[in-house]
Amino acid sequence: MKILAIETSCDETAVAALDIQGNKEMPEIKVLANELFSQAHLHKEYGGVYPNLAKREHLKNLPSLLSKCLKDANLSAEKPDIDYIAVTQGPGLEPALWTGINFAEDLSEKWDKPLIPVNHMEGHIFSVLYEAESPLEFPALALLVSGGHTELVRVDGFGDYKIIGKTRDDAAGEAFDKVARMLELPYPGGPQISTLAQTDRNENEESEITFPRPMLHSGDLDFSFSGLKTAVLYKVKNLNIKNQDTKAKIARAFEDAVVDILTAKTDKALEEAGDIRSLIMAGGVSANTRLREKMKSLSEKFEIPLKMPEKELATDNAIMIGIAGFIRAEKTEGEPSSSPSVPISAQGNLSL
Ligand code: KG4
Ligand code: ZN
Repeated sequence: MKILAIETSCDETAVAALDIQGNKEMPEIKVLANELFSQAHLHKEYGGVYPNLAKREHLKNLPSLLSKCLKDANLSAEKPDIDYIAVTQGPGLEPALWTGINFAEDLSEKWDKPLIPVNHMEGHIFSVLYEAESPLEFPALALLVSGGHTELVRVDGFGDYKIIGKTRDDAAGEAFDKVARMLELPYPGGPQISTLAQTDRNENEESEITFPRPMLHSGDLDFSFSGLKTAVLYKVKNLNIKNQDTKAKIARAFEDAVVDILTAKTDKALEEAGDIRSLIMAGGVSANTRLREKMKSLSEKFEIPLKMPEKELATDNAIMIGIAGFIRAEKTEGEPSSSPSVPISAQGNLSL
C-alpha cells in the first residue's frame, strides 16, 4: 500500500511517501521520500509556537515539499500511483491543522484518491513500528510525551486505547521549553537542556541541586509539572544563571526530576496492570537520552520489550502519520469512511 502523508499540527511542515506491506504488528515500511521543514528557528523569539506564523509557513512550504517528495519518490506529479493520502486531523493548533487538511483535500479531489484522517498521537504511538525488530504485542502500555501531551495509554489493540494517566497542567515538553526560556536557552528547549545537563553530569557525580517531584506519591497515574517549573523559577531568581556551571546544574536537576516522575509513573502503571506485553515510549520528549536510558532499565526490570522511535522519528514527522494512516486503512478497508468525499475538520483537542 502506497501512502502520501501530510503533517502540519504544530511547527513542522512534513510530507512523506511510504510503501507499507505486511501485517500491522510488524509491517515492512519503505520510506520512498521524507520531506520536513522545521519552523522552530522562526518561533524562537516567541519562546514557543506562534499559531498564525505556523499557519503562514505551512501554506508557504507545503507545495514545494510535495513537489520534492513526489520527485524523490519517483511518483508522477500529475497523478501519482498511491492508494491513500493520510493527513493529521488533530490534536494540534487548529489554524495549522487546517492548512494540511485543505491541502490534502485538494489533492484528494485532483487525484481522485481517498483521504485518511489521522490522530497525531496515534501517529506517535505507531512511529515505533518503523524498523521494529519484533512484532508489537498487546496489551501495550504507551508513555506519550510531547510538547502538548503527557499521558499513559493502555493499548489493547489497534484503535483500542484507554488513557490511564495524564498531566493535570503542563506537558513534559512544554515544561522543558518553559524552563529553557528561564535559562535563556532557545526554543525548543528539550535538546538544549539535555545537552547542558550532560555537561554537569560529566563533571560532577552528584547533582548539587534537587527539585521536587510533584505527584510522585499521589497514588494515581497523573502527572503535574507546574510546581516543578515554579521551583526552577525560584532557583533561577536566586542563583546567577550567567554562570554556565550554575545553569548546567539547574538543567541537570530539572531533567532528573522530569525523568524520575515519568519513569516512576510508568513503573506504577506496569505494576498495576500486570499484563503488559510491550512498553511504548513516543513523542518529542522520547528523544531525551536520559529518559531513554531509564525507560530501558524499566523495560528490563519488567522483562517487557521497549519500543521507541529512533530520535529522528520521535519529534513530529510525516512518516508516523503515514504509518498510522496504514493502520487506519487496514482497519477500515472496504468501509465507506475512507471515501474521498467525506470532509475532514480540524480538531485541536482530538483525543485518542
Ligand atoms: O512531539 P513533538 O515534536 O511535538 C508535539 O507534538 O508537541 O514534541 C516537541 C517537544 C518539545 O517540547 C521539545 O522541547 C521536546 O519535544 N523535545 C525534547 C527533546 N527533543 C525534543 N525534550 C527533552 N529532551 C529532548 N532531547
Ligand atoms: Zn507530536
